[in-house]
Amino acid sequence: MLDRQDGQPVGQVTLTALLPAHAVDAAYLHMSGQPDTFLTSLGPEILTVLYRSLPVSQHAFGFAAVDPGRPASLIGFVSATTSVGTLFAEMGTRQIRAFLPPLLRRFVRQPTLLARAAQTSLYPFMHGTAGAGIPSPAELLSIMVDPAQRGRGIGSLLVAALQAECRRRAVDALDVTVDAANIGAQRFYVSHGFAFVRTFTLYGRKMCLFQSQLR
Ligand SMILES: CC(C)(COP(=O)(O)OP(=O)(O)OC[C@H]1O[C@@H](n2cnc3c(N)ncnc32)[C@H](O)[C@@H]1OP(=O)(O)O)[C@@H](O)C(=O)NCCC(=O)NCCS
Repeated sequence: MLDRQDGQPVGQVTLTALLPAHAVDAAYLHMSGQPDTFLTSLGPEILTVLYRSLPVSQHAFGFAAVDPGRPASLIGFVSATTSVGTLFAEMGTRQIRAFLPPLLRRFVRQPTLLARAAQTSLYPFMHGTAGAGIPSPAELLSIMVDPAQRGRGIGSLLVAALQAECRRRAVDALDVTVDAANIGAQRFYVSHGFAFVRTFTLYGRKMCLFQSQLR
């Protein structure tokens, strides 16, 4: 059982590594936490493939918050990559066989998603905090807590675990992209040591890039 640093108990919650077995729950938490986003518009099948792929990638990792009595069922999770460009390249090559069939089914049903998918493939080049000679930061890809369990410190535990793991991996900085309209999440990140870097546009929406310095 874990406690908040301010001493308020979060109750029966255990943190474990994010596993492929959590993928279905992670997909549903993602859809409820980010209702109007491109990834959610791809649907549960593709998100499940994504969350099955992330934990087995050498370039990604994450933590799951679970009830110790039901370890396969997710209360919340966080996922990250040590290199967003390498992760995207891996998904477009080594893992393409898992993604292609559900993606094709989705694009046949909703061809307009193709343009947004193309834009997503450019994402690693869009916010670019990495420059020549500067090591590329890790990136927090997603953090979601079950709506019924929010405000209990679970998100804080997940971010703290992620920052500690990044330090263990000698990562200098952790980026996160937040929709400019998601003021609650921005407040959450700032209270965990992230600072605003810049805005950029993705899918016609204003996004904010935040960065946490880890050294
Ligand atoms: C962001 C999120 C993971 C935080 O998880 P959590 O377990 O509620 O986090 P904690 O209990 O540790 O901390 C709560 C803090 O989050 C902030 N917060 C985050 N999102 C919020 C929202 N939509 N409304 C109000 N407050 C929010 C509050 O400022 C609160 O701070 P406080 O304790 O000082 O009041 C959770 O709100 C969530 O799943 N949101 C939907 C998905 C999302 O937006 N993810 C970020 C995408 S970039």
